[in-house]
Amino acid sequence: MSFSRCALLWARLPAGRRAGHRAAVCSALRAHVEPLPGALGRVSAVASSSSSSSASGGSKAPNTSLFVPLTVKPQGPSADGDVGAELTRPLDKNEVKKILDKFYKRKEIQKLGADYGLDARLFHQAFISFRNYIMQSHSLDVDIHIILNDICFSAAHVDDLFPFFLRHAKQIFPVLECKDDLRKISDLRIPPNWYPEARAIQRKIIFHSGPTNSGKTYHAIQKYLSAKSGVYCGPLKLLAHEIFEKSNAAGVPCDLVTGEERVTVEPDGKQAAHVACTVEMCSVTTPYEVAVIDEIQMIKDPARGWAWTRALLGLCAEEVHLCGESAAIDLVTELMYTTGEEVEVRNYKRLTPISVLDHALESLDNLRPGDCIVCFSKNDIYSVSRQIEIRGLESAVIYGSLPPGTKLAQAKKFNDPDDPCKILVATDAIGMGLNLSIRRIIFYSLIKPTINEKGEKEIEPITTSQALQIAGRAGRFSSKYKEGEVTTMNREDLNLLKEILNRPVDPIKAAGLHPTAEQIEMFAYHLPDTTLSNLIDIFVDFSQVDGQYFVCNMDDFKFSAELIQHIPLSLRVRYVFCTAPINKKQPFVCSSLLQFARQYSRNEPLTFSWLRRYIKWPLLPPKNIKDLMDLEAVHDVLDLYLWLSYRFIDMFPDASLIRDLQKELDGIIQDGVHNITKLIKISESHKLLNLESLSAENRSRLSGTLKSQARRVRGTKTVGSKAAEPPVPNGGEKSLASRLVQQGLLTADMLKQLEKEWLTQRTDGKERTEPGTYSKGTRRKKKEPDSD
Ligand SMILES: Nc1ncnc2c1ncn2[C@@H]1O[C@H](COP(=O)(O)OP(=O)(O)O)[C@@H](O)[C@H]1O
Ligand SMILES: [Mg+2]
Repeated sequence: MSFSRCALLWARLPAGRRAGHRAAVCSALRAHVEPLPGALGRVSAVASSSSSSSASGGSKAPNTSLFVPLTVKPQGPSADGDVGAELTRPLDKNEVKKILDKFYKRKEIQKLGADYGLDARLFHQAFISFRNYIMQSHSLDVDIHIILNDICFSAAHVDDLFPFFLRHAKQIFPVLECKDDLRKISDLRIPPNWYPEARAIQRKIIFHSGPTNSGKTYHAIQKYLSAKSGVYCGPLKLLAHEIFEKSNAAGVPCDLVTGEERVTVEPDGKQAAHVACTVEMCSVTTPYEVAVIDEIQMIKDPARGWAWTRALLGLCAEEVHLCGESAAIDLVTELMYTTGEEVEVRNYKRLTPISVLDHALESLDNLRPGDCIVCFSKNDIYSVSRQIEIRGLESAVIYGSLPPGTKLAQAKKFNDPDDPCKILVATDAIGMGLNLSIRRIIFYSLIKPTINEKGEKEIEPITTSQALQIAGRAGRFSSKYKEGEVTTMNREDLNLLKEILNRPVDPIKAAGLHPTAEQIEMFAYHLPDTTLSNLIDIFVDFSQVDGQYFVCNMDDFKFSAELIQHIPLSLRVRYVFCTAPINKKQPFVCSSLLQFARQYSRNEPLTFSWLRRYIKWPLLPPKNIKDLMDLEAVHDVLDLYLWLSYRFIDMFPDASLIRDLQKELDGIIQDGVHNITKLIKISESHKLLNLESLSAENRSRLSGTLKSQARRVRGTKTVGSKAAEPPVPNGGEKSLASRLVQQGLLTADMLKQLEKEWLTQRTDGKERTEPGTYSKGTRRKKKEPDSD
């Protein structure tokens, strides 16, 4: 083909394509007439000059499994015809396939790909996409057509495909183009610098350290009340409410700010000089004389720790009072070293003595007034309160998902010396934030399912810090019980409890951090076709933190992001929706988030009348436990509405009406919980609940095994999101083992171990080779439960 014909066809290319392809076509045409000597020499030359995003040395390699390839569609028929074919000749697809396969196998090419960030996985994915593109396109771009044609006729080397391959790889993995920028954006080192207002002043940091019930918060609050202005940052809404009420009752006007509620007390609606808030909501730009950050040890919380870090580094207060466990002193001192602020530690001792008993409760017949049984599952709560009722006693019930009014009502009933209710059955929700007159704490179990830093579910004995926090609730100062006692339900657990309580609490090593909306927005700008959940993963992977910090687990955020991914929303709005705190275990709450987002995206305001219809108001009092749980979920949905109403006031316009509705609902739930044993009884008789009451003997045998297991598994028993299910026996009725797994008392591994142990007892000693293991033939054929 003559060059004049080439030029003619070139002129026929649309302007955009011409611009984009000019350089490549020119070099392709050049290669066509004057092939360069060594193919690899050519590739290297292209590599070193082509891109600004060459491999960024130094930083850790990204986790490329997070890079989701975008789809590049093969080209359909073009209005200009197949220019490449006109310039050269139509390609022989069989030949092309051979060339591509050869290209893929070239070690030199793979190595070159790696230099550009294409590890084996990405290289493979990019190649498959590249090959599909080439093989399935109706016509190819001129440049690539020409080079393929040249390779077919040995006028170019197969390595000359590399620039085209790389261009394609960057199209499907845009992250390759901007790795350095992403690393800069996700640089979370030196967090103190994020708070210029706080850095502009020299703050006095006072750490009130001591066990539960030692008066830490009391002393910090005394300072807060006597200051001209102050902010209290608490871990729970209930605590923020308590300080809000205490402060106003003491004649110090104080506002309330939580995610779902803002109360201003000044008649003109102006902000009061004092504010009590949940720690996530504190302002890091308002100057205060005194700030109080309660439960500072929660700085290590895998999901919420960032809020304490932000408050600690960012509050603009002359005096910052921290209340919490001594385990946080070293870390706080280290962090304050980086801000140049000194920490004064004030140590407190418990105001009332507390003792661990030498005997377990063993039977609910031994309950006494002022006892609180602490369970780690709702099923245990139901089962225990039912058994208490059978003994003719009344109990109050407190667990995390109850509305605040209900929790307070139950606490009041238990605390009231004139009320016949003298026993409390509760989860560890009592660890913080409620004033309870407890004489004796009884741990019903010591095993608690938790979510670890990787977002995995773990079943393990409670930590020393948790045990101390709960145990510390016994014998409250200023209650009628001047001494606290602690024990367990089962004899077998008592030694483990003593062991846990006597362990030194590990010093806290790192403080939580999380990305800001702006940082995620910048990521989205660079990676526009990436889902929000994927953006978060890439952010966390790219992020760099100093040794005293860690990036918080963002699983809940990602869960919401995936839930609403298909709904068209701007990134900012989507981000806010995903920050809304929801209980992802409540299906109605999750579907409501989806529904709210959907309506938002259609620009349909969520009015009071719409929401009433949506939740099917008026709601009837609960008739059984399932009804009660449904009402709790509706209460959470109203919380979600209120939370969103403060972020999108136009779209969620009826906050005050919804708040009234929510109060009414809290009342209905209160009545339901007041009669909870009736609800449990009805649920049981309708087989809606399955509360196997384990005999003391069974429980202690199980707990003995758990104890030894617990030691072995400490901190490492991870179960997947699907709880491992042991086989269901023939009748379809779930086995005891199956229910224990469901209740979090057993893991699949423990079950396997138990099976082995029971089998050992039954098996002829000759068959055993060593304790706990068996010769081949004795292993059970039965299908083992899925592990992890
Ligand atoms: N000096 C004090 N005078 C009166 N009441 C106090 C005093 N110190 C603590 N209290 C009361 O004792 C209880 C426990 O004190 P708190 O400050 O909550 O303990 P901590 O924060 O260490 O767990 C609270 O009800 C508190 O009001
Ligand atoms: Mg306190």
